[in-house]
Amino acid sequence: MSDKIYGIDMGTNSLKIYQKGAGVVVQQKNMIANVKRKEREPLAIGDEAYSMYEKAPTNIEVRQPIINGVIADFTAMQIMIQMYFKVARGKNSPEGLVANGNSEFYIAVPTDITEVEKRAFYDLIASSTLKTRKIRIVEKPIADALGAGLDVLDATGRLIVNIGADTTEISLISLGGIVQSRLLKIGGTKFDEAIQQAVKKKHNLVIGMKSAERLKMQLASGTREDEDITSDVMGRNLITGLPSRVTVDNHLIFEAMAESMSSIIDAIRFILEKTPPELSMDIMHDGICMTGGSTYIKNLDNLIRQETGLNIMKVEDPELTVVKGLGMIMENPLYERMAYNLQESDFQ
Ligand SMILES: Nc1ncnc2c1ncn2[C@@H]1O[C@H](COP(=O)(O)OP(=O)(O)OP(=O)(O)O)[C@@H](O)[C@H]1O
Ligand SMILES: [Mg+2]
Repeated sequence: MSDKIYGIDMGTNSLKIYQKGAGVVVQQKNMIANVKRKEREPLAIGDEAYSMYEKAPTNIEVRQPIINGVIADFTAMQIMIQMYFKVARGKNSPEGLVANGNSEFYIAVPTDITEVEKRAFYDLIASSTLKTRKIRIVEKPIADALGAGLDVLDATGRLIVNIGADTTEISLISLGGIVQSRLLKIGGTKFDEAIQQAVKKKHNLVIGMKSAERLKMQLASGTREDEDITSDVMGRNLITGLPSRVTVDNHLIFEAMAESMSSIIDAIRFILEKTPPELSMDIMHDGICMTGGSTYIKNLDNLIRQETGLNIMKVEDPELTVVKGLGMIMENPLYERMAYNLQESDFQ
């Protein structure tokens, strides 16, 4: 039987939940849909809410409660988390994810945010209807590095770059702690927006974010490509106002994403420049570990390799490293100290 111990990564794009003894049990779009002014009665959450995104009538709102890695809509996020869990009452335990008096929650939070923003992740669970015994906070870069298979406990500097949906988190880790971490408001969504703008400018075509994301998945590359690759996309022609189809090529997508890419490179360089020399030597030796769903972009590793001169390590399932790292912390007593309590007294 699985324990009632859970790890939660509230990503901007998707919510991931790990259950001790069972592995990753939830991976769903982090979205909620409700009729306007009826926030407390959602019509749909997760992937089902995402299927309504950009298709719903004006009286229905489809939103992301996490923006730029922090909680933007506390109530919506809390309602959603509560819907994933059942609260056990009496002796009979219901099926599925259960939060009862013995439940423990490990919550991953970005490092480079304010204490108030961190506290909100704790409060979200603490003030919910879920019953809990313990709520513990884990710095996201630590969970990320563990989930990526890095040994975070030894005295070796590790540089990990998580390129997600709204954020890129660049962190330097040594001896189980964070030496420095920087959270940029750049990620897959920024790339999608840039693609949307570029298609509008070049082809006079307004496309949705889902279409822009699909173009990115098909055509994006971290480095300039010689060959032409194309894909068709449907949208609304700006001049005629009618639905129309155009063919988009990889070069347009590359140009559209170039500015965001160079911001990521600049930020990695900035962290490298501020890295103490002994740790720099470790990074020279081991290179940079890349995680987050946006690292699926072809040749992104080659771009970072070219621009920094360092080796790049890629991982399997890069969007799951944080939640798997939470799993490792709850499964292995060796890592227990990586999680901490956030009590009222810490803030007084
Ligand atoms: N094959 C792919 N090619 C390019 N991008 C991809 C691919 N698969 C997923 N992505 C992008 O990965 C992003 C989601 O990654 P991830 O799950 O790591 O983000 P998140 O944790 O929800 O966000 P954040 O960490 O920024 O809060 C999306 O922007 C998505 O478009
Ligand atoms: Mg993430």
